[in-house]
Parts: sequence; structure tokens; C-alpha cells
Amino acid sequence: MEKLVVEKSPPLSGVVPVSGAKNAVLPILAATLLTEEPCVIEGAPRLRDVATMIRLMETLGVMVEQRADGSLETRLLSEERSTAAYELVKTMRASINVLGPLLAKRGRARVSFPGGCAFGPRPIDLHLKGLRALGAEIDIREGYIVARAERLRGAAMYLGGPFGSTVTGTANVMMAAVLAEGRTVIEGAACEPEIRDLAEFLNALGARIRGMGTPRLTIDGVDRLGGTTHRVIPDRIEAGTYLAAGAVTGGDVTVKGVAPGTLRSVLDVLREIGLSVTEGEDWIRVRRAGRLRNTDIVTLPYPGFPTDLQAQFMALLAVAEGVSVVTEKIYPDRFMHVAELARMRARIRKEGATAIVVGTRRLSGAPVMASDLRASAALVIAGLVAEGTTEVKRIYHIDRGYERIEEKLTALGARIVRREDPEAP
Ligand code: EPU
Repeated sequence: MEKLVVEKSPPLSGVVPVSGAKNAVLPILAATLLTEEPCVIEGAPRLRDVATMIRLMETLGVMVEQRADGSLETRLLSEERSTAAYELVKTMRASINVLGPLLAKRGRARVSFPGGCAFGPRPIDLHLKGLRALGAEIDIREGYIVARAERLRGAAMYLGGPFGSTVTGTANVMMAAVLAEGRTVIEGAACEPEIRDLAEFLNALGARIRGMGTPRLTIDGVDRLGGTTHRVIPDRIEAGTYLAAGAVTGGDVTVKGVAPGTLRSVLDVLREIGLSVTEGEDWIRVRRAGRLRNTDIVTLPYPGFPTDLQAQFMALLAVAEGVSVVTEKIYPDRFMHVAELARMRARIRKEGATAIVVGTRRLSGAPVMASDLRASAALVIAGLVAEGTTEVKRIYHIDRGYERIEEKLTALGARIVRREDPEAP
């Protein structure tokens, strides 16, 4: 196993390129199950999760070739198999994205039931509700979701749940509905840019989806889909992570190749805590003079502040002036990083789904353990300003979602290296 060794770093400065969005490319890869034609996906990031999804696609009869420029070419070889096995699904929950496409195209799907994860239960009841509304018969057997349908039929449905809309649930039902007979209307659909990107990909294949990016999707089913070449949108979470890294060190960092319109709530927070934020069509620059100020953050479905940046921004607030309050409205238990940040001398108290962060001037480097992808990024950010050395262990989490994070940070002046970790189990 490997670890990242982070030293207190000078103010980061420079330009960092942002990769394609992990959470867009994963459902888009799954969507290629819906067509018999080849597809090319440009701008796919080189990540562990993408590699896992490629392996899963291959077990389902879709060959995925990775070209030198990083783009992925998919080609259907066989539609015989329709099982997503436990071994793959347990390593990546996003595997559930194949459920809707398999059901719609092959009439059957057997997908391992994804369990919870480091930040709590992750139910899929809304996925199943939507697919049942389209006429699927669904059973849970031996840890698998077993779904069947002759031909799905369009239906009107509401997909909101106790925590708002569901990103992957919307993706699953939308992918199933594009091949259903008749019209489907999804109310309470997720508005995340990654869902919009998936809808644009599907429409390029010949699907008829309207209302993309809004909570009301109207989908008119078609009989078959073709192929296309599609470039995935930039990763807004990766962009926000590098902006937070620049901010915490008092630096001057520009993220390039981003869509600033997808980061409005995040840029607002950066301004509130005292940063100067400027932007162009595809870049955002953040500079800091003086100490960070406190603020309150509430995570919400898009366009609200993303839960996937909550941990990284908590690391920022840990060294800001005054008291900040961070409330998690998507995953009430997504606070595993709090205890690790406390090992670095951060002063954070958790009260239910809220963390009260008392800013301190000095963090202290420590060995810390990454519990999930975004929590790992938060520990790296904290390590950049902590006195001494921070060792972030179990970084396979970080490689799931960040492409060459230590190289990108080093190019900005950070003192960070990847090392083998002989102590890891
Ligand atoms: N929910 C239900 N029932 C369902 C589905 C979800 O109650 O059937 C609840 C969840 O428990 C949660 C809320 O609804 O409280 C939102 O969950 P959602 O389904 O939107 O999450 P997801 O689709 O499983 C995606 C991202 C996550 C990101 C969330 C929220 C992918 C592959 N994953 O997960 O990304 O945190 O949306 O924005 O797109 C990450 O990249 O680090 C990551 C965890």
C-alpha cells in the first residue's frame, strides 16, 4: 500500500489543469450498454474508479480500449451476460449504474446489492422505485438485485427522497427510460451537471430527453440508439479541491479547463472567507491576502454546496479566524475526517449532522488515515499548512477520484511525495 507524505508548503502558485469528471464518465460508460454501436468518450480521467468501470463493462461484453490521448472507445461484443458481480460492485458503488441500461437493453439484470460505505448507509430504494414504475419486476436474492422486463413502459414518477434528489438514481431511471415504450416524466430529478452531461450523451446517441439540468425530465422512448463521440465535462470537485489547496496556503492558484458556472456556490464560499476570485470562460483564479475568515456551509443537492467538497472546505475552515458551522444535508454521517483532522490539532466538534469548527492558527502534522476519497483530499489540504510532516495513509481512496494528485500539487509548489507504506496492513 502507498501513502502520501506532505510537508508544510509555501503558498501554492501556478496553473493546474482539471481532468474530466469522474462522476460523469462512470454513468456514461454504463450508458454504452444501451447501444450496439461503438462510442468514443473523450477527456476520461485516468482513475481507479474508471479502471474498475472498464473491467465491469468488459465482464458485460463491452470492450473498452483506452487510446494514448486518454479517450475511451467502446465496442459491443456480446449481450449474453447481465450480471454485475459482488467483487466489482463492492469496490465501487457507481457500478449500480449498469442496472437501468442492462434492464432496458437486455431485458434482465443481476447486480450485486451495493452496501453502505465509510460515510453511512447509501440506499437504492429510489432507483428500484423508478424502475418498477417503468414496469420492471425486481427481487432481491442472495445479495443481488434481480430485475426483469419484457419491454419497459414510460411512466410519470417522483424520484425525490428524504435527502432530496438522487444523482445515480436519476441516471439509472433516465437510462432505462430512453428505450422504454412511450413517455417518462421524472419529477424531483437530480440537476447535477454530471446528469446533464449523461443526458447530452444519450441524446447524441439518439435518445429524446428534454429538461436536462432541471428537476423535471421528459423522456420519449426510442427503439434503438446509435453511436457518438462525446467529451466529458470537467471535474468540478477536483477543481474545488485545488482551489481549496491554493486558498489554505495563501497562494495564487488558477484551475484551467473548468466550467465556472458549475461552481457558483463554491466560489461564493471562497469569497466569503476572504479570497479574491476571478474567472474566465474556462478558468478560475483564487488569491489570498490576509487570514481566512469563518463562514457557515450547508451541503445541498446542486446547485447548492456539494457534499463532495465538504471535507476539503472543513480543512480550510479549521485554520480560518473564528467559528464556522458546517451542516451535511446529503449524508448526515459524512464526518469521518473530523477525528483525523483533530489528530492534526484542528478544533472541531460534531453535533449530529453538524460540525462546529473553531479556527486555529496552527495545525500540527501527524500520521492520518484516509477513510474515503474526499476525506483523503481534506487531509492532504490540511497537511499543506500543518507544521512538520503529515502522512496520509490508505491513499488508494484518493486514486479512485484524483488523477496524479501529488504531481499536480507539486507543480504548484507543494511539498508532497508518494511512498510505499510498509506499515500498512
Ligand atoms: N438516497 C436515498 N435513496 C436512494 C438513493 C439515494 O434515500 O435510492 C439518498 C442518499 O442516502 C443520500 C441522498 O439520497 O442521502 C443523495 O444520494 P445520491 O443517490 O444522490 O448519491 P449517489 O448517486 O449514490 C453521487 C456521487 C457521490 C456524491 C453524491 C451526492 C457518483 C458516482 N457518486 O452518489 O460522489 O457524493 O452523488 O452528490 O456520482 C464522490 O465522488 O466522492 C462521491 C461520493
